[in-house]
Amino acid sequence: MSSSSTLRPGLLRILSLALLAVHVLSDVTTGIPDAAPPGFEEWESPIFLPAPDVKGSGDWASAVARARTFVKGLTLPEKINVTTGVDVLGRCVGNTGTIPRLGWAGLCLEDSPLGVRFADFASAFPAAINAAATWDVDLIKARGVAMGEEHRGKGVNVALGPMTNMGRVAAGGRNWEGFGGDPFLSGAATVATIEGIQSVGVIANVKHFIGNEQEHYRGGSSAPQITSSNIDDKTLHELYLWPFAEAVHAGVGSVMCSYQHVNQTQACQNSKLINGVLKEELGFQGFIVSDWAAMINGVQPALAGLDMNMPGFVGYGVGEQNNPDPSTATNSYWGAALIDMVKNGSVPESRVDDMVTRTIAAWYKMGQDKNYPHVSFSQLTQQTYLNGEKVNEHVNVQADHYKLIRKIGAASTILLKNTKSALPLSVKSLKRIGVFGSDAGPHPLGPNICSNGQNDKGCSEGTLAMGWGSGTANFPYLIDPLAAITQHIQSINPTVVIEGVLDDYNLKAQSSVAAVSDTCLVFVNADSGEGYLTVDGNAGDRNNLTLWANGEKLIQNVAASCPNTIVVQHVVGPVLVESWIDNPNVTAVLHAGIPGQETGNAIVDVLFSDSPQATNPSGRLPYTIAKQRGDYPADILYQSNEKVPQITYTEGVSIDYKWFDLKNIEPRFEFGFGLSYTSFSYSGLQVSKSRGRREIEALHRTSTTARSSAAASSSKLSSFPHAASSTSAAVSSAPVSSASAPVVSSAPASVSVSASASASASASGNATSTASAPPAGSSPVGDVGGPAELYKTIATVSFKVKNSGKVAGNEVSQLYIGPPNSFGVTQKALRGFARTFLNPGQTKTVTIPLRLKDVSSWDVEKQKWVQSSGQLKVYIGKSSRNIELQGTLNL
Ligand SMILES: *[C@@H]1O[C@H](CO)[C@@H](O)[C@H](O)[C@H]1NC(C)=O
Ligand SMILES: *[C@@H]1O[C@H](CO)[C@@H](O)[C@H](O)[C@H]1NC(C)=O
Ligand SMILES: *[C@@H]1O[C@H](CO)[C@@H](O)[C@H](O)[C@H]1NC(C)=O
Ligand SMILES: *[C@@H]1O[C@H](CO)[C@@H](O)[C@H](O)[C@H]1NC(C)=O
Ligand SMILES: *[C@@H]1O[C@H](CO)[C@@H](O)[C@H](O)[C@H]1NC(C)=O
Ligand SMILES: *[C@@H]1O[C@H](CO)[C@@H](O)[C@H](O)[C@H]1NC(C)=O
Repeated sequence: MSSSSTLRPGLLRILSLALLAVHVLSDVTTGIPDAAPPGFEEWESPIFLPAPDVKGSGDWASAVARARTFVKGLTLPEKINVTTGVDVLGRCVGNTGTIPRLGWAGLCLEDSPLGVRFADFASAFPAAINAAATWDVDLIKARGVAMGEEHRGKGVNVALGPMTNMGRVAAGGRNWEGFGGDPFLSGAATVATIEGIQSVGVIANVKHFIGNEQEHYRGGSSAPQITSSNIDDKTLHELYLWPFAEAVHAGVGSVMCSYQHVNQTQACQNSKLINGVLKEELGFQGFIVSDWAAMINGVQPALAGLDMNMPGFVGYGVGEQNNPDPSTATNSYWGAALIDMVKNGSVPESRVDDMVTRTIAAWYKMGQDKNYPHVSFSQLTQQTYLNGEKVNEHVNVQADHYKLIRKIGAASTILLKNTKSALPLSVKSLKRIGVFGSDAGPHPLGPNICSNGQNDKGCSEGTLAMGWGSGTANFPYLIDPLAAITQHIQSINPTVVIEGVLDDYNLKAQSSVAAVSDTCLVFVNADSGEGYLTVDGNAGDRNNLTLWANGEKLIQNVAASCPNTIVVQHVVGPVLVESWIDNPNVTAVLHAGIPGQETGNAIVDVLFSDSPQATNPSGRLPYTIAKQRGDYPADILYQSNEKVPQITYTEGVSIDYKWFDLKNIEPRFEFGFGLSYTSFSYSGLQVSKSRGRREIEALHRTSTTARSSAAASSSKLSSFPHAASSTSAAVSSAPVSSASAPVVSSAPASVSVSASASASASASGNATSTASAPPAGSSPVGDVGGPAELYKTIATVSFKVKNSGKVAGNEVSQLYIGPPNSFGVTQKALRGFARTFLNPGQTKTVTIPLRLKDVSSWDVEKQKWVQSSGQLKVYIGKSSRNIELQGTLNL
């Protein structure tokens, strides 16, 4: 790099570190991305060094200060113990080492996003996709609080959720662990979940960072093939990063990097993403942990900003049982190797200090230094003793969470069709009811054991109430629909005939019961999960988008002899319904998702108006249901011979409804759709700027000035594309040409946004049912999550909603902006929502705030958010395609 003499001193440090990194990286034989294959040359990640040290921004200040003091007193082996896990045979799925000298007990990291995985006496909550389907941030937050209480009660320090990948592909195996296909909805649900979990002192972990959208070839240290998700900068910011930015702004304590590559570089060693985007641009103050055995190298992740290696060993099946002392463990990319890296100069000790400071800061920030419960369960057994050691105290953490689980189950149920007043049912008018399908009944071996011997719900037997994989929890019990329906009917009229035909394939038995029933309830399902388990030939991702276990035939067969056939689907995502949805004998359809342990009771609440907790359905689709699979913008890559199969996100920001709108494709049921037993009318739209044009401009100036130093360093280093790509070129031993590298004129300066500036509005787009402007929050968080100004309310949209029908219920109102807008595409984008309860005849005013970020788009050249200008259209609707009111916002 001969031109380095022309560079200023501040930069020399960066460059020399970069050179050091290049030197070191070039020594490493594993983990270096191969050059992009022909045709994909532009899809490479630049290198961004050095890793930004934690700053103690905003409300992290005192936790970071305390953590610095804590770290000062540690020996290098003690520090290593905080960074590396002990292996998979610990009490939790992840366990850091401990510091016996100081009595520091280490951290327990435990799955999952819907409960405490592997624990007994804990609840099985509705999946995140159901939480999203409620469109109710208060319910979502309550779920977060309840899950947080259960993790805390078991002694878990870090709860491994929420998961907020975007469901780019309808068949994606883990989509149900996340919040659906829209970044705003997903962001709001992510924030509410984190606020809930962390409100009781548990560190939340937002995952998987980033572009982890399919299970096939997702990677892992020992995987022979690992995909590269190729994502352009605009799409990253406006879509996949959005919920992560909201999470960071909400103060999330930890992030998990994903298995696959992004732009050829494995996500846990992608310095552009971790150092550049997460830590510099978003100002993330907590720690980032690898997904389990996602690391494929030791030095590169350390320099790229990774802070914790889980579960510690090199890889599954690669000598898992090692040494329970991480500081001397040799079967690890870190552990003892990290000590060597510090000693031989390939990783500065200051980087290790920062790893530990970030981790301990999160621990202090959640108050875990005081009276935190010890780990009282073991992921390895439900029994009390393991090898003579007492590992399970059977602490019962369920409290009355079953009530919330039932409530969310009902609130997340989406009514897709209701003709001939088929629903709701009342026992009074029933004489004879048939209940059909294995999905209505119990599991043959109980809710937690699969007859194929697989763990983690790796089968589809009995009613479906969660998917499979690490995103699961044990059911303490599972109320199946047939049992709940029977109990409800009997509580009112024990003389109703109830017949359950649970065999999906016995068409004759189905027909004979259907022909004599006045009401036929058909239960069907579709399952998916994590790729390490294969169920019915589905390796995580679904092979098709249709129903499982003869579901379509079952519906058609029952409907052929029963003119009042009501379908309930328990599904992990969209399913194609074309072969039966228009059948006039199918009078109603409920799309119930995967509702957790109270599933049977929850469906009774929606089906029956005489249930004590009768619920008028208000769930709305968090994704689009297409008419055919090919209508979706992208699909799973199932087959590839490439070592690094390339998955390029060519559809850009236009996934889900944005794609259908852009391409003018008629969906079967659009994003945001859902019917009710009552009707609602809208009026009185008012769009008011809560700040004048000048004020907004000033805000934007502050936000861009505040960021300019960071943006400068970020864009310089990343627009160091030459340095960057020549760096990766150097790694693959091509000559370094720095002659064309731009001269960087400033070293990365510290970024701080006045913490005294008035605080941000709720990131959830919280709506109040009065006309008053939404109350400002009260805890400024400085630049955490990006410039604080982006999160301030700049306008409010209010309107009236009236319950014009005869039944009380909730209405979910949705706010979309554009077109035209400056998002580079012309379709609508969700930017707010509110769920409002209304009695018959009642009218309420609903107010939804719009923040600066909500009306901005990511400018790739400027590397910052820029505000849309001119007139912005504002739509208020019942779904993405059912718009009731329109207005404009002049910016
Ligand atoms: C990936 O490559 C695209 C296309 O060059 C670029 O826009 C984007 O910023 C890159 N992202 C990362 C994380 O390297
Ligand atoms: C590291 O953690 C292990 C496991 O808890 C413990 O046995 C060991 O003493 C710790 N090492 C140091 C240096 O504190
Ligand atoms: C939404 O706002 C209302 C009224 O200010 C408040 O009671 C409620 O807790 C808020 N919900 C969330 C999730 O912030
Ligand atoms: C430094 O130590 C690490 C861990 O043992 C090793 O992978 C790396 O090759 C070493 N680097 C140098 C320059 O010796
Ligand atoms: C779709 O996959 C499910 C689960 O493997 C299977 O039961 C069903 O038969 C498949 N449907 C079609 C049309 O192949
Ligand atoms: C609807 O049910 C009736 C029996 O009541 C049957 O005769 C008819 O064929 C069914 N229609 C369809 C489309 O299945």
